[in-house]
Parts: sequence; C-alpha cells; structure tokens
Amino acid sequence: MGLNQEKIVGLIVELNQLLANYQVYYQSLRGLHWNIKGKSFFELHLKFEEFYTDTQEKVDLIAERILTLEGTPLHTFGDYEKNAMVPIGKNISNDIEAVELVVQSLSELLKIERHILSIAEDANDEGTNAMMSDFISEQEKTIWMMKAWLS
Ligand SMILES: [Fe+2]
Repeated sequence: MGLNQEKIVGLIVELNQLLANYQVYYQSLRGLHWNIKGKSFFELHLKFEEFYTDTQEKVDLIAERILTLEGTPLHTFGDYEKNAMVPIGKNISNDIEAVELVVQSLSELLKIERHILSIAEDANDEGTNAMMSDFISEQEKTIWMMKAWLS
C-alpha cells in the first residue's frame, strides 16, 4: 500500500494492544448489563447494551484494520488478558460504580488511541488515522455524558 513497512509493524503491535483492551472492556460491559441493580436499572441495562454493541463493532473494525495492514489480530482470552490496561469490572451492581468503570475504561482506551494516532500520523497511515479520530471524538463525548450523569 506504499506505507513504510517498519513503521507499520510497530503500528500493528499498538493496534493489537487496542484490540485486546476493547475486548476486555466489552466483557466488562456485558457484566454491567447483566448485574446492574437499583432505580436506574432500566436506563443503564439498555445503555450498557448500546455500549457493548458499539464496542463489538469497533473490535471488528480494529481487527480488520490490522488484517488490511497485513498483520494478525489477537483473538485469544490469554492474549487479551496479557495486554489489559483497562480496569476489569467484576460483579458490579452499583450504578455509580458501573458508570465510573465506563469512564475509567474509556479514558484508558483514549490514551492508547491517541498514541496510535501519533504513530499513524508519522507513518502517513491515513486509514488508521481516520479511524482513531472517529473513535476519539465519539468517546470524548460519551465521557462527557457519563460524567454529567455522575454529577
Ligand atoms: Fe441482554
């Protein structure tokens, strides 16, 4: 594709890191969707479903971007756990704790995405660049909404 191969190899490593963290986040969201309790149940049960459906689409986009760059996407639980930087949410049923987990997870994902954005820029990889820009602006908005809910 006319991209610098050495830079792309490094980029694939970071994209796999992002993929792994999205998968861990996805699984946390399933847990939140299932275990949420309290007066916000109906609202949050639905919201977390919306989030995990969106996350599942992003997982596929990242994996297929890796394949487009001729890399191999990570796909085992072991690899995902090894690369996890997002917090792992377990048995969370409290609404505030649940929304805080989403904010913390999105903040970690944003850090990885901003890092990838800078590498993609350096490699002139406009495709990855555009994908990261979309993810970043969408997640910044979600963080704002989640923080508004918490305040
Ligand atoms: Fe469900």
